Amino acid sequence: MFKVVTSRMIVPNMHLLTLEAPAVAREAKPGQFVIIRAEEEGERIPLSISDWDEQMGTITIVYMNVGRTTDRLASLVEGQEIPTVVGPLGNATDIEKYGTVLLVGGCYGIGSIFPIARALKEAGNKIVVLIEGRSSYLFYWEDRYKAIADKFVQITRDGTKGYKGHVDRLPEIIKSLDTPVDRVIVNGCTYCLKRVSDATRPMEIPTWVSLNPIMIDGTGMCGVCRVSVGGETRFACVHGPDFDGHQVNWEELLQRRKTYMPEEVVPLRTSKSEEHPHQHREGCHG
Ligand code: FES
Repeated sequence: MFKVVTSRMIVPNMHLLTLEAPAVAREAKPGQFVIIRAEEEGERIPLSISDWDEQMGTITIVYMNVGRTTDRLASLVEGQEIPTVVGPLGNATDIEKYGTVLLVGGCYGIGSIFPIARALKEAGNKIVVLIEGRSSYLFYWEDRYKAIADKFVQITRDGTKGYKGHVDRLPEIIKSLDTPVDRVIVNGCTYCLKRVSDATRPMEIPTWVSLNPIMIDGTGMCGVCRVSVGGETRFACVHGPDFDGHQVNWEELLQRRKTYMPEEVVPLRTSKSEEHPHQHREGCHG
């Protein structure tokens, strides 16, 4: 069993969970994820690791409450336990000295891209961190990023902070920097990953996205997480989760992610008087 150290909502509908998981904390690397079950008979869902503390034996996850399992997680309080935390899974993000790296985080990705940003900075890169969201009240960990980023940029749909709009504004932001961008890395919901990839494709900037398809075992055995990249079938759990965003078949991935949407919504409707106002708006588990 894995004990809950911290469980709290950090901004509306976005939750931070710190768990005692010493074996995972010992091995975790930037870009990896865990598969968890919130209860014995529960489903298995993949969640990116947003931080870890090897000394304390803890890992921290930031996730969005979008379905039955994340709703159950959100109800946990300090001292409770969950039955399954498997990981770290997936390949770590490649950390090298690239030059200038633009890191884009949206939604839960504002959390999960943090260890990648930190490691790239330690590797000697200049890092530009861009976080995006519908409104500034959905941002978190801004202080953490300001402390390590060479430049910190925000985009909000409603213009309450930084640039107004969506990640489609990336080309003008990149052009406004005093240095060429050598690599873009994106964590967040599938729409965000796609839109960043679409924006950087004409600029021919290598763009790596952390894919978040539905997963079951997370070890390459069930095939549920298959994605098409460069015309080849890949399993996100063992070949990824990072892939070349310019090669991903986004239409297929977006379609596959909707597979269990009705099953996600029905139990929530029956367990609550009304559907949660934020359910499925972003369409990601985190
Ligand atoms: Fe089963 Fe990837 S989750 S093969």
